[in-house]
Amino acid sequence: MEVAVVTGASRGIGYALSKELHSRGVQVIATARSEDKLKALQAECDGKLEYRVLDLSDRGAVEAWANELSEKGIQISHLINNAGSLVNKPFGEITAEELRRVYEVNVFSVFEFIQRTLGLFTSDVHVVNISSMGGFQGSQKFPGLSAYSSSKAAVASLTECLQEEFAEKGWAFNALCLGAVQTEMLEEAFPGFAAPTSPEEMAVFIADFAMGAQKYLKGKVLPISSTTP
Ligand SMILES: NC(=O)c1ccc[n+]([C@@H]2O[C@H](COP(=O)([O-])OP(=O)(O)OC[C@H]3O[C@@H](n4cnc5c(N)ncnc54)[C@H](OP(=O)(O)O)[C@@H]3O)[C@@H](O)[C@H]2O)c1
Repeated sequence: MEVAVVTGASRGIGYALSKELHSRGVQVIATARSEDKLKALQAECDGKLEYRVLDLSDRGAVEAWANELSEKGIQISHLINNAGSLVNKPFGEITAEELRRVYEVNVFSVFEFIQRTLGLFTSDVHVVNISSMGGFQGSQKFPGLSAYSSSKAAVASLTECLQEEFAEKGWAFNALCLGAVQTEMLEEAFPGFAAPTSPEEMAVFIADFAMGAQKYLKGKVLPISSTTP
């Protein structure tokens, strides 16, 4: 059976994606900090989805979780690094703590979790890193999002690096730079903006991509947007 690890599954795109993958017969292991919402997700998946409460900004917790998966003998066929953290503030007002939180969740945890689960990847694993149009080179940038967008650019570049690093394996690493999707995070970034895409619609796209595109696309950083932002 295919096993997908989905981070940031308690709301928004990750919640919808976990449900979508579950409906396609994939064994989903979902993570986030909000246990009540993960429980609700599990209930919506007939109790068959596995979840793990985890703060991705806690290095020790990320390591412990990777060890747990290893002890259980989990083989990961799809890793969707979807969790995201955003601060929307003028550049000069972003504190060191806010900057660190954004990078911990959006970049460092992705780096470390992949590092620690390399031994659990199936021979044809597809790692999908969820980036943003803000992190896509040459895209329009917006004031207030310097920490967030630069972190998303880092994870896009990391994706390309990983594909080269593991070129001899059958593994695929791709980054999707999403445009606007109607979630709580979008409301934080662009208050009042109406997105053309719902989390459920984006979940179908990501599930299709995660389950099929790796044969043709490897090490790619792809803009997924019909509008700007
Ligand atoms: N929505 C958009 O328009 C848009 C556009 C471009 C890119 N994206 C990207 O798409 C992904 C999903 O976005 P979304 O709009 O669905 O965001 P969202 O509704 O804000 O959900 C973010 C998810 O990340 C989890 N998360 C945040 N901090 C965490 C931490 N420290 N540890 C563990 N989990 C954490 C949250 O769960 P807890 O709070 O329960 O921990 C939540 O499940 C993100 O990477 C985002 O950057 C979104």
